[in-house]
Amino acid sequence: MHIILSAAISADGYLDDMADTPLTFSSREDIEDVHALRAMSDAILVGANTCRNDNPSLTVRHGNTDIQPTKIVMTRSGNFDRNTRFFTEGTAEKIVLTSGDPCDHLKDIATIIPFDGSANDATCQLQAHGIKTLMIEGGAQIQQYFLDAGTIDEIRLSKNQHIIVNDPRAPAFPQHALPSATVMREQTYGQNSVTWHATAKNIDQTLLRHAVAQAEKSPAADRYRVGCVIADTHHRIISTGFTQETDATCHAEQAAIDKALKNGFDLTGCAIYSSMEPCSKRASAPKSCSERIIDAKFKKVVYAYREPAIFVDCEGHAMLEKAGLTVIENTVFAPLVIRQNAHLLSGA
Ligand SMILES: NC(=O)c1ccc[n+]([C@@H]2O[C@H](COP(=O)([O-])OP(=O)(O)OC[C@H]3O[C@@H](n4cnc5c(N)ncnc54)[C@H](OP(=O)(O)O)[C@@H]3O)[C@@H](O)[C@H]2O)c1
Repeated sequence: MHIILSAAISADGYLDDMADTPLTFSSREDIEDVHALRAMSDAILVGANTCRNDNPSLTVRHGNTDIQPTKIVMTRSGNFDRNTRFFTEGTAEKIVLTSGDPCDHLKDIATIIPFDGSANDATCQLQAHGIKTLMIEGGAQIQQYFLDAGTIDEIRLSKNQHIIVNDPRAPAFPQHALPSATVMREQTYGQNSVTWHATAKNIDQTLLRHAVAQAEKSPAADRYRVGCVIADTHHRIISTGFTQETDATCHAEQAAIDKALKNGFDLTGCAIYSSMEPCSKRASAPKSCSERIIDAKFKKVVYAYREPAIFVDCEGHAMLEKAGLTVIENTVFAPLVIRQNAHLLSGA
């Protein structure tokens, strides 16, 4: 399972203030990005206090609203108002993950999943329920609980530079979790500066998810929608690309490599992550993406989905391995790649 923790904080690290209504930290662009991340996740999880205090609907309301991930709330007490938006809004499955009260009173409106109180068992139970990508949205207790258990793969932290809470009673993001994490990427969305941190758990898988996210930008309707990121030896994303980013025939890896070289990066020893196996034959360009990867002296290639023989017999994996690169096929996000390419892979 891949677990993303997403939090929005004030400039001084708080998740909320002590007022009755929840504080909004996110700019519109930031909210849109969070909703895109929700749409890429199988499920969104919050703690019972967040559900009770903020009454969030936890639906996707920007971008592709056809996709509605499963909603999960964690509780010991089972103390919920059935009329909260968590239960009443959206068509997605609602799960109550409980380590205490059996929650029989919610059986008609939610799936009840008991667990033994440990974060490991919580994730095992959810995985057994078919959840492969989980987005945890808080609050403070839940963040601390999963971070302390070492179950988080990546953290998306959005800091509003203009809001100061300065109230020690208010819930704060558990900052202590960050020092051991690598900053993969930083981006500004209006008043929010967003940092993406990878924990040591599975950095290749985390960077691969960012490649798969790039594919969402591809407009391709008659070819594969592929996304790519390039990371340096410190796991920092130095370039990104997606199919048709620069012209009608451009491949994702080609776009990312060309941009990186144009920006003066030496790609020797770097790693390239692609949502699909890099191509080995190209009718529309003198070199295939696999040849470009070999020429640029990359050390490692990680991809999510092996190209099926629809257009050509792709031999990218074998070609790259023969050239001495480490090649990893990680299929955790393969269902997402199939969904992104449903126009060509509906039978896959
Ligand atoms: N800025 C942001 O990104 C963001 C995001 C989300 C929330 N928030 C804020 O965070 C605040 C809420 O945070 P919080 O720390 O008070 O609460 P929380 O983390 O949302 O929820 C805590 C609750 O989760 C349940 N829980 C915790 N550990 C559990 C375990 N091991 N097994 C089963 N259930 C467990 C318990 O529910 P029971 O009491 O039912 O047993 C506990 O009271 C709100 O002010 C909200 O606005 C901010």
